Amino acid sequence: MDAVVLVGGFGTRLRPLTEQIPKPMLPVGHVPMIERLIRRLGRGGVTDVVLALGFKPEPFHEAFPADRCGDVRVTYAVEPEPLDTAGAIRFAADTAGIDSTFVVANGDVMTDLDVGALVEAHRVAGAEATIHLIGVEDPSAFGVVELVDGSESGGGRAGRIERFVEKPAPGTEPSNLINAGTYVFEPAVLERIPAGRRVSIERDTFPELVEAGSMFGLATVDYWIDAGVPDLYRAANLDLLSGDRVHDSCEAISPDASVDPGATLMNTIVGAGAVIESGTTVVDTVVLPGGFIGARAQVESSLVMGRVEADATVIEAIIGAEGVVAEGDHVAFDTVPAQQ
Ligand code: GDD
Ligand code: MG
Repeated sequence: MDAVVLVGGFGTRLRPLTEQIPKPMLPVGHVPMIERLIRRLGRGGVTDVVLALGFKPEPFHEAFPADRCGDVRVTYAVEPEPLDTAGAIRFAADTAGIDSTFVVANGDVMTDLDVGALVEAHRVAGAEATIHLIGVEDPSAFGVVELVDGSESGGGRAGRIERFVEKPAPGTEPSNLINAGTYVFEPAVLERIPAGRRVSIERDTFPELVEAGSMFGLATVDYWIDAGVPDLYRAANLDLLSGDRVHDSCEAISPDASVDPGATLMNTIVGAGAVIESGTTVVDTVVLPGGFIGARAQVESSLVMGRVEADATVIEAIIGAEGVVAEGDHVAFDTVPAQQ
């Protein structure tokens, strides 16, 4: 089965980390986010993935030199200009010649969803489109649905979607069930998307499918995170240490990192090539490849790609690749370098 994976966003909410590395290539537990996603699609029966890109494919070619990720074949569709989610799906499907039931995934979603179960629910319902749903406490930052006819199917509750609202104002959400960013589509969906211009799957196509009565959802209770915002990107990493993920886990410290035995690390991931000096305390933090934490520095709940010099204190901060926290400085609830 084919899948289109949407990876053409600019990763704005993860700046400055995404200034050097596109969002899907950022590591989650030492492995690029996109690679974890493709491997999961592969476990669910996907054989061919087309990456829908809005920018240069070079970093992806480097990650998948033989155009394969495990057993999955990887190809690319590079949009001449960003076409938004539906425009990108249409462009990628045309490029790859997709003409049967296929999967679509947002490239920043980390989940334990069994894609095979979503495909099965889609077939049972005879749907044109079936989307994965997750219940969350604050649905307003997502696409929110109203689901009817909920019946047990493939480890979740399946039903017709009666309403789809993208990012409703807080307090106006029709339910707490959100679009979890994995879809199964019939090729008929592609005919609803005009070619060659910006079209949003969430704002244009889903409301049209709801109107046609052919859109279904499968609500599950799987682990699920949209890793496209800093706190959740950090959580997506640290959750791999907890042993709670069904198929995924990781080591806290990369074998290629240099961590002084006099450093104290708690619930922290240290990437390849990172350096942690003596006397430091690092808690609930992801130190990305190339990150540096100098002697006696204290770092908590942060993402560090750049340098934290000796005796500095860093709390709930993002230090980009070019970022330097000077010796003895304090940084809290901020990004370095500062964002415009
Ligand atoms: N190729 C391409 N071209 N990809 C794009 C474009 C584009 O023009 N615009 C966005 N994308 C990709 C992003 O890279 C991301 O993988 C995916 O489409 C979704 O975009 P986000 O920017 O991450 O959207 P969001 O997180 O605000 O909301 C989406 O995901 C939520 C679940 O995580 C929506 O689908 C919501 O309805 C959903 O609840
Ligand atoms: Mg997102």
